[in-house]
Amino acid sequence: MERFDFDTPVNRKGTLSYKWDSQARNLGESDVLPMWVADMDFRCPQPMLDALQERIEHGVLGYTKRGDRYYEIMQNWLSRRFDWTVDTQWLCYCPPGVIPAVTILLDILTKPGDPVLMHMPNYDALYGAVKEMGRSLIRCPLLEDEDGFRIDFDLFEKLLREYKIKVMLFCSPHNPSGRVWTGEELEQTGALCARYGVTVISDEVHCDLVYKPHIHTPFGKIKSMEQNSVTLMSPNKTFNVGGLMTASVIIPDPALMARYRKVLGTWAMNLDTTFGTIAVETLYRDPDCEAWLDAVVEYLRKNAEYATEWINTRIPGVRTRCPEGTYLLWLDFADTGLQGPELYEFLIRKAHLDLSEGSEFDPEDRTHMRMNLACPRATLREALGRLEAAVNSRTAK
Ligand SMILES: Cc1ncc(COP(=O)(O)O)c(C=O)c1O
Repeated sequence: MERFDFDTPVNRKGTLSYKWDSQARNLGESDVLPMWVADMDFRCPQPMLDALQERIEHGVLGYTKRGDRYYEIMQNWLSRRFDWTVDTQWLCYCPPGVIPAVTILLDILTKPGDPVLMHMPNYDALYGAVKEMGRSLIRCPLLEDEDGFRIDFDLFEKLLREYKIKVMLFCSPHNPSGRVWTGEELEQTGALCARYGVTVISDEVHCDLVYKPHIHTPFGKIKSMEQNSVTLMSPNKTFNVGGLMTASVIIPDPALMARYRKVLGTWAMNLDTTFGTIAVETLYRDPDCEAWLDAVVEYLRKNAEYATEWINTRIPGVRTRCPEGTYLLWLDFADTGLQGPELYEFLIRKAHLDLSEGSEFDPEDRTHMRMNLACPRATLREALGRLEAAVNSRTAK
């Protein structure tokens, strides 16, 4: 018997689950498997559930503020998991999550109309924040060859120079491709940003879900960029607590930290959610939660390998590459001849699968879909079987 059970399905229907209860996406079809929103279909680590239960039994859920203990726990976590030594003065938080922190930082660091550079494709809410804030999105498309996605450093430098970029929004590990940027790629990125005076806001929510031998390096660990970077992390993806609305914000520059804290106050965001605070302290401190994490990463790695192998050997119309981290699989349907909304509808009606459309990650994309692999293996097998039957029946015609 395995110590942690990720195989037994948990019925999430009717729990106000964004992923499972958004029926409108299913175009009237029933029995659709949702594999879109990036959360996991697994129960959270038991010590965290116990800590929340204890608070419920205590019965008082008044205003909450994290104290010194949290800062020490976070400092130890960063040192243990990423070999990153941070001062507790660099640590802050953002109660609703990573994206509101990005919005606040864009507001502090740029003015309406200012250019903000991002590699594309990218997570929709990230480039969405640039647009929502009325900033100008400067797209730096990633290069793709048989080895996967790479940063186009020549174009990157050209754009930094041409648009006098002062802020870049970075996604590391990368959603949707699952790339885990190497130390060299990060150093090269840091060197360019340091040369052109660019501040990097690095969204690292997927940082704990990385498959060996790949290693995640926090952007703030790049020495040349320490004072010119903000690193955003969170237990949301790591431990599947997206509904607890919490995020960690790491700002080594004291002046920027002071401005960030001031805005948190202005927006009355300087208190914490009770459950989020209890969860984050338990998750980053309890050895059994860390053991759960190591086990879930291993389970996800096997899911990723299983799905990649299945798709590349049994579904000729679809191509994919095994992610280096994240539980997301980026699928290319170009060879099926299906595109855009027609492709989405085909997958709902014929495969009964709800995947995320490529256009969410790059408005110009027509042929990709993103599949969330964070489910029991039996569910994944069912999904792959549906995909195979639907796509192969079409390409066989
Ligand atoms: C790259 C990335 N950043 C941020 C988020 C959302 O983070 P939060 O829930 O903390 O706002 C996601 C969720 O899918 C994500 O993939």
